[in-house]
Amino acid sequence: SKPRILVTRHIFPEITDYLAQHFALESNPEDVLWSQAELAQRLADKDGVFITGSHRIDTALLAACPRLKIAANMAVGYNNFDVDAMTAAGVQGTNTPDVLTETTADFGFALLMATARRMTESEHYLRAGLWNSWRYDMFAGAEVHGSTLGILGMGRIGQGIARRGAHGFGMQVIYHNRSRLAPELEAECKARYVSKDELLAQADHLVLVLPYSAESHHAIGAAELARMKPTATLVNIARGGIVDDAALAQALKEGRIAAAGLDVFEGEPAVHPGLLERSNVVLTPHIASATVPTRLAMARLAADNLVAFFDGRGALTPVNTPNQ
Ligand code: GLV
Ligand code: GLV
Repeated sequence: SKPRILVTRHIFPEITDYLAQHFALESNPEDVLWSQAELAQRLADKDGVFITGSHRIDTALLAACPRLKIAANMAVGYNNFDVDAMTAAGVQGTNTPDVLTETTADFGFALLMATARRMTESEHYLRAGLWNSWRYDMFAGAEVHGSTLGILGMGRIGQGIARRGAHGFGMQVIYHNRSRLAPELEAECKARYVSKDELLAQADHLVLVLPYSAESHHAIGAAELARMKPTATLVNIARGGIVDDAALAQALKEGRIAAAGLDVFEGEPAVHPGLLERSNVVLTPHIASATVPTRLAMARLAADNLVAFFDGRGALTPVNTPNQ
């Protein structure tokens, strides 16, 4: 009989149809946001799950779902997985790398520009009917072209942002990462490797694109913000928790950096009230990969991971090697 698969959120109907050709499918067309306990109940008799960042695979869930063999995440980041627990329980995890790289880099650059050039703040002013004349410094922001672009986390998305900055906007690109890029990649991105301290001190615009882990938790906190230029902008398209949002709200309030552009938040969908209060913060609801073609490609890749796995071909984009 066909493997039993649960799809945790409503997704593209063509992807559910595709999955239904291969599996006995339980889906969620009403898009109810199940609790973890409800998820565990529904998963108890399933062999695999198509999952999103809305839910976690953790020890409690694994204990309740002994049949589970694979969790296919529709995201490149998988901090919603307890990977060690999954590996120990013999559960394959997969993610969606590559298909979202350029789209997410586009958004990182858009957020950088919107933040530096004060686009949402000025739009609110216009819509509020406050625009009554020219003023020499009205919404004068920070320069983008020719400035120094700092990138923390130089994976595929970071490299995409570096190429946009270097080739499209004549920026000096500096980066910090756990490991240095190969020389030919550094040359292609026109990116110079620096220490984290130098990155903080020299960047006019600092973009965060590193994966979330215990190690990257609060990689940007009060001490790091204090090292940045008072004119600098900070952009986070990585994960909530990489920035200490309370410390960021305080730094913005005290004018210790100029502005921030944030697509991800600690404890999202809740947003720190100190960030909501500030006009020099551009806020978006975790949409960096959200174009129709890219979201479709992500869903297709997550589905193909399930199909390949149960065909015995092995997962296409695994994040672990589960114990047998
Ligand atoms: C989105 O945040 C992703 O990890 O794909
Ligand atoms: C992370 O996986 C990235 O693509 O940057």
